[in-house]
Amino acid sequence: MLQVQNLTAGYGSLTVLNGVSLSLGNGARLGVFGHNGAGKTTLLRCIVGAVRPRDGKVDLDGTDTGVATVAENVRRGIAFVPQGHNVFPNLTIEQNLRIAGLLFDPSFVTQVYELFPVLAERCRQRAGSMSGGEQQMLALGMALMTKPKWLLLDEPSTGLAPVIVRNVMRRLADINERTGVGLIVVEQNVPATLKMVEQAVILRSGQIAFQGSAEELGRNTDLWKWF
Ligand SMILES: Nc1ncnc2c1ncn2[C@@H]1O[C@H](COP(=O)(O)OP(=O)(O)O)[C@@H](O)[C@H]1O
Ligand SMILES: [Mg+2]
Repeated sequence: MLQVQNLTAGYGSLTVLNGVSLSLGNGARLGVFGHNGAGKTTLLRCIVGAVRPRDGKVDLDGTDTGVATVAENVRRGIAFVPQGHNVFPNLTIEQNLRIAGLLFDPSFVTQVYELFPVLAERCRQRAGSMSGGEQQMLALGMALMTKPKWLLLDEPSTGLAPVIVRNVMRRLADINERTGVGLIVVEQNVPATLKMVEQAVILRSGQIAFQGSAEELGRNTDLWKWF
């Protein structure tokens, strides 16, 4: 279980998150939306322990992630895919996956290949020569090499063509169903994400402006009033 409890955080004198609370059961799928600067990335950084809360905390199965290092939180099961394609362009796909899984079980690469057959087909290709969508799949595969309980994704659809976005969203739902990994997806593409998540949150100026089911948010014809 992942619980964000009355979280307040920021940078220097800037307060970015102000009293944010969320409670997610294992395997949940949450979409996090909001304008630029609303605090979405900061929320993910707090969960993985890269930003220390000023007040409140993030609790993973009874452990406070805000007092542990990022590496410890990754070992406890939180994987974070930051914005952009975080692959080593000069290494092959297989080398990228093995590096990502170095502290875990490198043989898990075969399971990642089952989830992403395209990566298996191209295992000896240089990552930098793949398309944006394929690099995003590789970044996802690299995150999965740590066998996470929670996968945090910061705007995974950025820069991808609509058809590729649908494909990435489908893969995410598929991975959630097959491995039980929980998903927290920060996205600008609200409609595409709502098809894939069960729960939704809209952040506005660091506070929760909407919290409910994805279905409820999707039914809102004036969805943008929350932004
Ligand atoms: N490392 C940082 N140092 C100082 N300010 C930052 C830093 N990262 C983000 N901010 C500021 O915090 C606010 C929220 O940023 P962020 O969490 O990235 O929002 P979002 O992801 O919703 O666009 C913005 O005003 C941004 O400029
Ligand atoms: Mg951001």
